[in-house]
Amino acid sequence: SILIVDFGSQVTQLIARRVREAGVYSEIAPFTAAADAFARMKPRGIILSGSPASVLDEGSPRVPQAIFDSGLPVLGICYGQQVMMHQLGGAVQGGDSGEFGRAFIEIADRCALFDGLWGEGESHQVWMSHGDKVTALADGFRPVASSTGAPFAVIADDDRRYYAMQFHPEVVHTPDGGRLLANFVRHVCGCAGDWSMAEFRAAKIADIRAQVGSGRVICGLSGGVDSAVAAVLIHEAIGEQLTCVFVDHGLMRSGEADQVVSLFRGHYNIPLVHVNAEALFLGGLAGVTDPEAKRKFIGKTFIDIFEEEARKIGGAEFLAQGTLYPDVIESVSFTGGPSVTIKSHHNVGGLPERMNMKLVEPLRELFKDEVRALGRELGLPDIFVGRHPFPGPGLAIRIPGEVTKERCDILRKADAIYLEEIRNAGLYDTIWQAFAVLLPVRSVGVMGDGRTYDNVLALRAVTSTDGMTAEAFGFPGDFLPRVATRIINEVRGINRVTYDYTSKPPGTIEWE
Ligand code: XMP
Repeated sequence: SILIVDFGSQVTQLIARRVREAGVYSEIAPFTAAADAFARMKPRGIILSGSPASVLDEGSPRVPQAIFDSGLPVLGICYGQQVMMHQLGGAVQGGDSGEFGRAFIEIADRCALFDGLWGEGESHQVWMSHGDKVTALADGFRPVASSTGAPFAVIADDDRRYYAMQFHPEVVHTPDGGRLLANFVRHVCGCAGDWSMAEFRAAKIADIRAQVGSGRVICGLSGGVDSAVAAVLIHEAIGEQLTCVFVDHGLMRSGEADQVVSLFRGHYNIPLVHVNAEALFLGGLAGVTDPEAKRKFIGKTFIDIFEEEARKIGGAEFLAQGTLYPDVIESVSFTGGPSVTIKSHHNVGGLPERMNMKLVEPLRELFKDEVRALGRELGLPDIFVGRHPFPGPGLAIRIPGEVTKERCDILRKADAIYLEEIRNAGLYDTIWQAFAVLLPVRSVGVMGDGRTYDNVLALRAVTSTDGMTAEAFGFPGDFLPRVATRIINEVRGINRVTYDYTSKPPGTIEWE
């Protein structure tokens, strides 16, 4: 295994992800806990992350001496490189100007990191983000690549198996970065590269058992992939100690609630409390048009119902959530251990404090595509695993203006046609999210020989890697006209269909 020492970089989790992609197990430890983690894990190698700190600042983080004393391979990235030089006898200077963004490095010499990848005299694109830089190397090191701003872009001490780089190999803007990291963990550290999601599953099951003991866990299902994967994994770990609660707010897409129920009760035989609360939610939404007011009402009502169900089962000490890494905003605070904030729009965000429950979040290191891989590993059907993200407040935020049962039904029908056509065209998996929005606008049309005065629908489809930024999807020429015709013919109440070309930013993916 590999120990990743986190000095607080925003992208430390990406290092872990690349190491997983190389088929090697890794654990991240904040620098404050690195010495303990090192002693416990007995890793084959260590990777030192970047950091917003400067090694020149008093009190800035250091590498535990035990790591350098162990004789194990070490790879330093950005701050990791600077801190290595600082502790091993090189020099680091504060920059008046740094290097930020895309840069090119010239390869000056061979080293184990470049095996099968980069050769002498070549130039390669990397991603830099640094103010300080290394200005003198510690004994034993030699430069193997340089850039205009960083004469020691990559350095190597082959005898001690120490390597370090100024740029970030873990981000996608360093196209060969994943392979550099794979060379380090496999060739330099000698890890086999046969780790897989099956082992992640086994390790997490052991973790969940250790955390929960004989306690009771309650898990809210949203209908989405994340909470479903978390629930199935936890059930595998602790069986009947888990109770799943599905609060059906009546704002789901067509057929979605039934799919959740049959997946859990039918496919897995996991006990499920299904609360049909459509009337309560729609009743409370009557007359509400402000987007934030809708979100707040839905969030609060959700929590109230969930709390009541938790009480009915006799209380639970643990709340399970399908939190993913992109939901975890801050990975490390400098005053101590990890401090995390969960996106405020998370459905059950206020619950743990209110009910004095501890969180079980087995997916918090994973990215969406990895959760999907884990879901497949756990045997979730493809239709479930590959599903587009769906917001907690559901269709309510896709119906600008007042939400009524009638409008929900109109939107559900139109949305189902749109998604069916997308699947038939083989485009579903290329698109991050596609959905329809029922606008509070009516337009005049003509159907048969009569005048119509009906609702306008907007279609939206975006590509994205994490939902943080997005671009409108460009459908092939005849696709949208075909969908528009079908919707207008088949859904009563809609007589005009438009397409939303807004990217994010400046737009958001959802309309509210
Ligand atoms: P926006 O609209 O902010 O959406 O660009 C980004 C992603 O987040 C989803 N989303 C939500 N998910 N609860 C959720 O669980 C919410 O309140 C919520 N609001 C937006 C949205 O569907 C997109 O994938």
